[in-house]
Amino acid sequence: RMPILEQCYNLMDFEAVARRVMKRTAWAYYSSGADDEITMRENHSAFHKIWFRPRVLVDVEKVDFSTTMLGTKVDIPFYVTATALGKLGNPEGEVILTRGAKKHNVIQMIPTLASCSFDELVDAAEGNQVQWLQLYVNKNRDITKRIVEHAEKRGCKGLFITVDAPQLGRREKDMRSKFSDVGSNVQSTGGHDVDRSQGAARAISSFIDPALSWKDIPWFQSITKMPILLKGVQRVEDVIRAIEAGVQGVVLSNHGGRQLDFARSGIEVLAEVMPVLRERGLEDKIEIYIDGGVRRATDIIKALCLGAKGVGIGRPFLFAMSAYGLPGVDRAMQLLKDEMEMNMRLIGAAKIEDLDPTMVDTRNLSSH
Ligand code: FNR
Repeated sequence: RMPILEQCYNLMDFEAVARRVMKRTAWAYYSSGADDEITMRENHSAFHKIWFRPRVLVDVEKVDFSTTMLGTKVDIPFYVTATALGKLGNPEGEVILTRGAKKHNVIQMIPTLASCSFDELVDAAEGNQVQWLQLYVNKNRDITKRIVEHAEKRGCKGLFITVDAPQLGRREKDMRSKFSDVGSNVQSTGGHDVDRSQGAARAISSFIDPALSWKDIPWFQSITKMPILLKGVQRVEDVIRAIEAGVQGVVLSNHGGRQLDFARSGIEVLAEVMPVLRERGLEDKIEIYIDGGVRRATDIIKALCLGAKGVGIGRPFLFAMSAYGLPGVDRAMQLLKDEMEMNMRLIGAAKIEDLDPTMVDTRNLSSH
């Protein structure tokens, strides 16, 4: 029997339920990582190497963990990151994430390869709800230009160019499940060739341009006024290069462990990046986000202590949506808010600005 929603007490619980109730192909696509899945495992376990150094006797009667991301005020420092093929897990698709994000006043990043059309997801947003666009850059730049211009016209507030996927990683679980109903699950970008022989991920990605390089950044800056961020940066040298290129932010990410196996976790890279930026007085030049393995409010707090502006969360909302629909996503987000309030109190921080590097002990990280 399927546990009732109220029996899910944390984000990992949704994954356990989803594993039991989801279709095999959908589970394979969502849960898989590249090669031996070492990076995917490390994404979450890297957080376990960081310990807190809480402050005591701080007045935490009132706790406010709202913050801003690219100028947008949000209730809590996470966003719903881009994950393709939402309809594999739930027939309604990513609109469920749009509604959950609205209810909790957080930002949704719309994937290029959403199952719902881009316009459907923008139409589903209400009032001043903010959305970002994740972009896979097409070899045909006319198509890319049209997507970007349309997103800006429809009010998207950030363009996240995925830079860690010149070729999609080998996700063997996914490849084994011999994905067959891809075509019916992708709509948003249209006109892409689909090769069904190698699993969902590879089938939908053949249009992505492996020649994309730093030289293309000025072109993006010439076609849009949206802030541009690079999603999938993994070393401090590239963060500095991004600053020099004049982009507004980076996401330190390894694509949820789905691309290069043995890429380091976002939190590990963050611990390497921030001291260098501070040393060079560059920390205010760019907004730094991380994603990968964030499952607890303590994970969010660790990232913010180290200097991230916010974190992206992917699979947990897919699993919540697949198992329970909107009520699942709503509960997953509420659980994070409840955890956040408690842990901010326990670490001795009444507001986000109180979180700083002295509140974490990172000596167990390899980048220390
Ligand atoms: C992703 N991710 C992703 N990223 C991206 O830039 N474009 C995409 O189309 C997708 N699609 C996608 C599908 C699925 C099923 C997953 C799990 C992930 C990566 C995603 O944005 C993010 O980097 C990770 O999901 C973060 O890790 P967690 O939170 O899933 O551990």
